[in-house]
Amino acid sequence: MKKLFIKSFGCQMNEHDAEQMTGILLKEGYTLTQKQDEADMIIMNTCSIRDKAEQKAYSEFGKLDGLKKANPGLIIGFTGCVAQQEGKKILQRISNVDFVMGPRDISHLPDLIERVARKERVVSTSDDATIAPSRPSSRKDEFKAWITIMEGCDFGCSYCVVPTTRGSERSRPGREIFHEVEGLAGEGFREITLLGQTVNAYGRNLDEIIDFPDLLGILQKIPGIERIRFMTSHPNHVTPKLIDVMSKHQKLCKHIHLPVQSGSNRVLERMNRGYSRGAYLEKVNLLREAMPALSITTDIITGFPGETEEDLKETLNILALVEFDAIFAFKYSDRPNTTAPAMEGKIPEDEKSLRLAQVLECQQFISLKKNRGLIGTAQTVLVEGAGKNDPQRWFGRTDCNRMVHFNAPGSLKGKLVSVRITDGRMASLEGEIM
Ligand code: 5AD
Ligand code: SF4
Repeated sequence: MKKLFIKSFGCQMNEHDAEQMTGILLKEGYTLTQKQDEADMIIMNTCSIRDKAEQKAYSEFGKLDGLKKANPGLIIGFTGCVAQQEGKKILQRISNVDFVMGPRDISHLPDLIERVARKERVVSTSDDATIAPSRPSSRKDEFKAWITIMEGCDFGCSYCVVPTTRGSERSRPGREIFHEVEGLAGEGFREITLLGQTVNAYGRNLDEIIDFPDLLGILQKIPGIERIRFMTSHPNHVTPKLIDVMSKHQKLCKHIHLPVQSGSNRVLERMNRGYSRGAYLEKVNLLREAMPALSITTDIITGFPGETEEDLKETLNILALVEFDAIFAFKYSDRPNTTAPAMEGKIPEDEKSLRLAQVLECQQFISLKKNRGLIGTAQTVLVEGAGKNDPQRWFGRTDCNRMVHFNAPGSLKGKLVSVRITDGRMASLEGEIM
């Protein structure tokens, strides 16, 4: 049996792509290994969202030279968003790579490997404008499954590489998604997460008349599926219809990841986000009015070109105003094929770091306050597993996507249980089974 080692960087969509590549390769006779040095094929599924992610990918390949020398039959694949972005330049830059494949060519993987077996070095980075039908997936989790429902992005934020790596917005037909989720329910999956770069824009340009709230309404009827999550949402596609559907159905988790990126109108405009600070806050108000317990998480970029101290204050202020449940914050990074790098007012790296630290510090208090606010409440937890050293130390996630740890006897994996929260920490909760 040939052995496959695969490592994925970046977002959940990339991880799910890796699950699909694994699914295809298991059908081709491979088995999975966690050990790089015993692999017959190594795939690095790269991310190019920030320069640091891209450099990390390249450094992984440097480490493989020794393995390739020891085993000349080893096949090395460079896939994901950096593959799409850099294409054949990768073959010139890294001599040990056998194939380069972008995210839109995963279905062609068996053909690529055949060509590699004929000693060809292959580059496959088509900009196919269709969206692939469902492919076999070898899923990481036993009870939770990811499903890509749309891909690409038409927004054109001035800092973002995604429209070039993942292409323009395409949605999968609703019927196909429905059948896939039904199949997952049959296999015992209890939670699904619908994936897309702007997942709530789902349904545009399809032949059938269906939008994202319609899809949610249909999927929540499938027996066996207990929870439905989705990410990432764009504020402009948060509609009254979506809010209504989310609040009406219990299976739709009360969590939304809604990147704001900056609290300053001036910066939002330069980012080409397509909304103002006021419009974002209005969406948050509508969501909270309908769902008071809704968890809202966000992404923030610090040090965008031209960002002033005043702009940063506006960002800190929006964090305090909204009180996000959690944030992901990043230093701005120049990306190829985007317009922001040509903008004036570059912020020095150390200043970006200082601003990032301010943002993170501000959020620490808020996250802690929010988590402590849950002490005494009852939460439904989907149990994911137990500690390696302590089989009665369980962990799982609440409906609003918070990690909870608790002690309990018995076999709880994959079950939905009620847990009373006894303590709130920065990034997780402690509880007791009810
Ligand atoms: N620099 C820094 N952060 C970025 N992001 C996207 N592009 C960049 C960039 N060029 C962040 C955004 C996005 C998240 C996935 O990554 O906050 O929401
Ligand atoms: Fe990284 Fe974006 Fe590609 Fe995901 S879509 S892997 S975040 S560049």
